[in-house]
Amino acid sequence: MSKCRVCEGEVRKFFDFGKQPLSDTFLTEQESGEAYHFRLAVGLCTRCTMVQLLEEVPRDRMFHHDYPYHSSGSRRMREHFAQTARDLLATELTGEDPFCVEIGSNDGVMLGVIKDAGVRHLGVEPSGGVAELARKDGVRVRTDFFEETTARLIAGEDGPADVIYAANTICHIPYLDSIFRGVDALLRPGGVFVFEDPYLGDIVERNTFDQIYDEHFFLFTARSVRGVAHRFGFELVDVHRLPVHGGEVRYTIARRGERAPSPAVPALIAEETSRGLAELGTLEKLGDGIDRICADLVALLRDLRGRGLSVAGYGATAKSATVTNYAGIGPDLLPCVYDTTPAKIGRLMPGSRIPIRSAEEFGRPYPDYAVLFAWNHTEEILAKEEEFAAQGGKWIVYVPEVRVL
Ligand code: SAH
Ligand code: TYD
Ligand code: ZN
Repeated sequence: MSKCRVCEGEVRKFFDFGKQPLSDTFLTEQESGEAYHFRLAVGLCTRCTMVQLLEEVPRDRMFHHDYPYHSSGSRRMREHFAQTARDLLATELTGEDPFCVEIGSNDGVMLGVIKDAGVRHLGVEPSGGVAELARKDGVRVRTDFFEETTARLIAGEDGPADVIYAANTICHIPYLDSIFRGVDALLRPGGVFVFEDPYLGDIVERNTFDQIYDEHFFLFTARSVRGVAHRFGFELVDVHRLPVHGGEVRYTIARRGERAPSPAVPALIAEETSRGLAELGTLEKLGDGIDRICADLVALLRDLRGRGLSVAGYGATAKSATVTNYAGIGPDLLPCVYDTTPAKIGRLMPGSRIPIRSAEEFGRPYPDYAVLFAWNHTEEILAKEEEFAAQGGKWIVYVPEVRVL
């Protein structure tokens, strides 16, 4: 039995992927295959309903100088974060000399827009390489993990924040107690803590089980977020569903009693209740989908290879580590994966050791089929690679089910 990282209640496991490598560790051919592995299993807290991993990976194994993920790698995400920045500027950063802090600012994709508006800001980003990219763009970044001590130091040096924002980062952080105490120390009275992360409701609806990997420690719902906020003297005052990364929710949190909650909050929680999102039975059904999808994908790849057709992967996503390693897909079934990220090209996919090639080489020559691992960027990639389909190439997607487009 595992103890809940939020309330110490009992966590009941609903799926176990077994031993898995870290999803963002891309070794070279020369480096040994004996990379760090951990047990990837996911469960539901029977007391506070928080869905979480059963084993925690030490944070500096994941987030370090060479962390390869660049937020700016997708045009749609650049647009999403520019819009986010404009919304924050228009609604929350309107007072005299406002101050915006971002937790997990990565390469500065969001804060760059805040900086261009001449607004005081600070990114808190432990991964030195991406933090340096943001600094090159003139964004102010502190290379550090956000936690209570960091927050107190920032409050002392820069004063209170009007907004503390985070995208795809709070769900990476098991120590939410320290995060909330830090937010409490840094946020000005009346300020807001806004964060967005993959939504359990979308994961269940679309079978997007590859959202489960080392970095995604929590899979949030409005109900579980309301619970954790309440524990630390805060209140969930608004929720917005977002279409990015396969479906996310943006949560707005204020100190308890400071803002009236929007009706959207109880409405989403009621929907979650009627869908049974806090019930073990609902979550166990996700497991049937995982096994079916993995079996179907392997069968399709074997069939194509057996017929002498060439297949490649597209997008060396963190998500795809879960798929390739759980399904047992290696270079024999999928000889290479194409990607645009400089820090991934020329290296190997974690665990499966499938070589990664530059996306610029995708058409030299095109494979017959391509597995779209970056399915969350389908529209953008299909538009960019329209020549592939024009020449008869076929895309394979695997969520919500295995299908040739
Ligand atoms: N916000 C970006 C980056 C998401 S990736 C986006 O949405 O695209 C998650 C980022 O969080 C990584 O850059 C990682 O280094 C950072 N991170 C992890 N733990 C953190 C912590 N405790 N404080 C601040 N950043 C953290
Ligand atoms: P993403 O799905 O955003 O995140 P995660 O790694 O957390 O699953 O990663 C997208 C990956 O796909 C990233 O390695 C960059 C790559 N990519 C391309 O190769 N071409 C593209 O056009 C886009 C949008 C992404
Ligand atoms: Zn709990």
